Amino acid sequence: MDLAGKNVVYLGGFGGIGQKTCSELLERQLQALAIFDLTLNEEILTTWQSKFPNTKIFYLKVDITQRSDIEAAYKEAVERLGHLDLVVNGMGLMDDRHIDLTIQINLMGVINSCLIALEYMDKSKGGKGGMIVNISSVAGIQPTPLMSVYSAAKHGVTTFTRCLAHPPYFDIMGVAFVTICPGFTETPLLNDLADKITFKFETPMALRKAKRQPPQVCAENFVKVIEKAQNGTAWLLDVGEIKEIEFPVMWIPQLALAVFDLTLNEKILTQWQLKYPNTKIFYQKVDITEKSQIEEAYKVAKERLGHFDLVINGMGFLDDRRIVLTLQINLLGVINSCLIALEHMDKSKGGRGGMIVNISSVAGIEPTPIMSVYSASKHGVTAFTRCLAGPFFASSGVSFVTVCPGMTATTLIDNMQDRTIYKFDIPAELDANKMKRQSVQVCAENIIKVVQQAKNGSAWLLDVGELKEIEFPVMWIPPMES
Ligand SMILES: NC(=O)c1ccc[n+]([C@@H]2O[C@H](COP(=O)([O-])OP(=O)(O)OC[C@H]3O[C@@H](n4cnc5c(N)ncnc54)[C@H](O)[C@@H]3O)[C@@H](O)[C@H]2O)c1
Repeated sequence: MDLAGKNVVYLGGFGGIGQKTCSELLERQLQALAIFDLTLNEEILTTWQSKFPNTKIFYLKVDITQRSDIEAAYKEAVERLGHLDLVVNGMGLMDDRHIDLTIQINLMGVINSCLIALEYMDKSKGGKGGMIVNISSVAGIQPTPLMSVYSAAKHGVTTFTRCLAHPPYFDIMGVAFVTICPGFTETPLLNDLADKITFKFETPMALRKAKRQPPQVCAENFVKVIEKAQNGTAWLLDVGEIKEIEFPVMWIPQLALAVFDLTLNEKILTQWQLKYPNTKIFYQKVDITEKSQIEEAYKVAKERLGHFDLVINGMGFLDDRRIVLTLQINLLGVINSCLIALEHMDKSKGGRGGMIVNISSVAGIEPTPIMSVYSASKHGVTAFTRCLAGPFFASSGVSFVTVCPGMTATTLIDNMQDRTIYKFDIPAELDANKMKRQSVQVCAENIIKVVQQAKNGSAWLLDVGELKEIEFPVMWIPPMES
């Protein structure tokens, strides 16, 4: 973040690390600095105000254990500044004799401060986005037995910050979350260590001997990190050095995959089950032209999985000589599957929301004369998906996404000349056999990328290995009675 001209809130700004970091921040030509702290340090405040006359600097009293204090301070800061760009949660207490207070200041305080700050910064609520930096500790990435309660609170801070950095949250709110983990830094926090440890029988020799960095060095590195940090990053600031922290993945949620298809491919199913033993994978027979079978399949999936988050309607049929079947599979099948899936996923009906991805085609965005019936059915899919993404289903919490693959090397497009309704010779420019094809693997990888990033109502062209969001021209606006 380029700090010049920014509005900053620093919680704990008069503490050991806070004072030095605020001074460093002020050197970057901030527009404003609001210090939230338990007590005012008038001397420091006036020194800053006279040294940095172009920056609006003020203090607001906040006891971080009192939610009402935090709310009032953010409200006043926003009233005075208009908006906030950067928040640093830098207050802290290390004293394991006071269990409740340790958790209240270090963890609850950070959680409350973040969530209240978001009320003003969240782009989806009219804010301008920005960055929230939470000061955790080395004790927040490595269990520190001498300070077990403090260490627990700081692990909580690290985790909470990493959770809020979840990319889909960032996409919606536009607020980046960054974790800072200082090592031992010479501040009042470390005073009387021996009295503040969890168990008296321990001697804090290890801590006494641990190398300490001056707060000035920590502050300089801290501001360097703020200037370059990306959402979700965590930084170790120890013995005068800066190091980005990499976290091992300790757990991934158990997945489940229900495959609905006309016929079972037992070999593939067994291969998947062996390769992904932690994923519940099962097959359910569905002839998509039979509504009762679709209903039954979703019912079974719901019973076995509890809920489903993602549905991909990927069935398809291409043979223009069989008009009814083409429309039944490609269009009616998608419509029925969407509406039945919605019954289970719709939040307003007790579902959990999610995403429904319908696989249309390039033939669903551009008339494709060689396969006119198929093209008509796929245009129907595109339109139906875009309709469901509209306001009528907003309360369902289900987003609808269209995927339009170009020619992809599957059996669907083999011998195209035998699958048309035309008896005459196919002109070269319409000859599907001569069109470039992408591999199934590339197409599959791009479908997953779409699932990971697509917003409700978006449509995606997946052609010749490339991925492109489709923009639709507005073809008609209803003329209204005045
Ligand atoms: N000093 C270290 O070795 C070290 C190491 C790792 C992490 N940290 C973390 O760095 C941050 C700053 O610590 P420091 O070393 O500068 O300590 P410090 O004791 O000098 O400063 C702590 C700050 O927190 C504020 N604070 C405490 N209780 C509060 C409350 N109830 N309401 C509002 N503010 C309150 C204090 O007023 C002070 O400004 C803390 O989060 C601390 O846990 C420090």
